[in-house]
Amino acid sequence: MTYRLNTQPLISEKQLSSRIKELGREISGVYGHEDVVVVAVLKGSFIFTADLIRHIDSPLIVEFIGVSSYSGTSSTGQVRITHDLSCDIEGRHVLLVEDIVDTGETLDYLSEYLLLRKPKTFKVCSLLSKPMNHKMAHHVDFIGFEIGPEFVVGYGLDVDGRFRQIPYLARVETE
Ligand code: IMP
Ligand code: MG
Repeated sequence: MTYRLNTQPLISEKQLSSRIKELGREISGVYGHEDVVVVAVLKGSFIFTADLIRHIDSPLIVEFIGVSSYSGTSSTGQVRITHDLSCDIEGRHVLLVEDIVDTGETLDYLSEYLLLRKPKTFKVCSLLSKPMNHKMAHHVDFIGFEIGPEFVVGYGLDVDGRFRQIPYLARVETE
C-alpha cells in the first residue's frame, strides 16, 4: 500500500506546543516535588515525550517501553513487547506516555503489564485519543486532543514507519 500525506495540518505545530505546555503544567501540579518515572511508549511517543518532559517541573527519569501492534493502518489486535524497562518501578510514581489511544488494547496490555510491577501510582498521558474507537478497561488521565476515527501521522506517529518527522499532525490517504 502507498500512503500520501495530506499536507493540510489536522493539528498544527502551534496548537501542539501550546497544549503540551498546558499538559506539562497539569502533570507538574499532580506530582509536585515527588519523583516520577516517565515511561515513553516506543516508537510513536518519542517526540511527544521529549517535548512534554521539558514542561514538567517535578523530578523525573525517563524510561522506554517498546510495543508493536499495528500493521499499516489497521491493528493486528496482538500486542508484543519489543523493548523492556531498564529499572525497577516498584513503589514509584509511574506516568505512561502514549502517542495515541485508539481501541485502547495497547493501553490495557501495558497497564496490566506495568501494574504487575507494583508502582506506587500509575497514570497515563496520551497526546491523542479516539474516543469513538475505545473499547478498553483502563483509563487515560491526561489527554492532549480528542480526534475522530481517522488515521493520523506526524509528530512521531507513523504509517509503516513513515512520516514520523512531519512537525505537525496530518491525515494520510491511500493511493
Ligand atoms: P490501540 O491498541 O488500538 O489503542 O492502538 C494504539 C497504537 O496504535 C498506538 O500506540 C499507535 O502506535 C497506533 N495507532 C492507532 N491509531 C493511529 C493513528 O491514527 N496513527 C498512527 N498510529 C496509530
Ligand atoms: Mg505506537
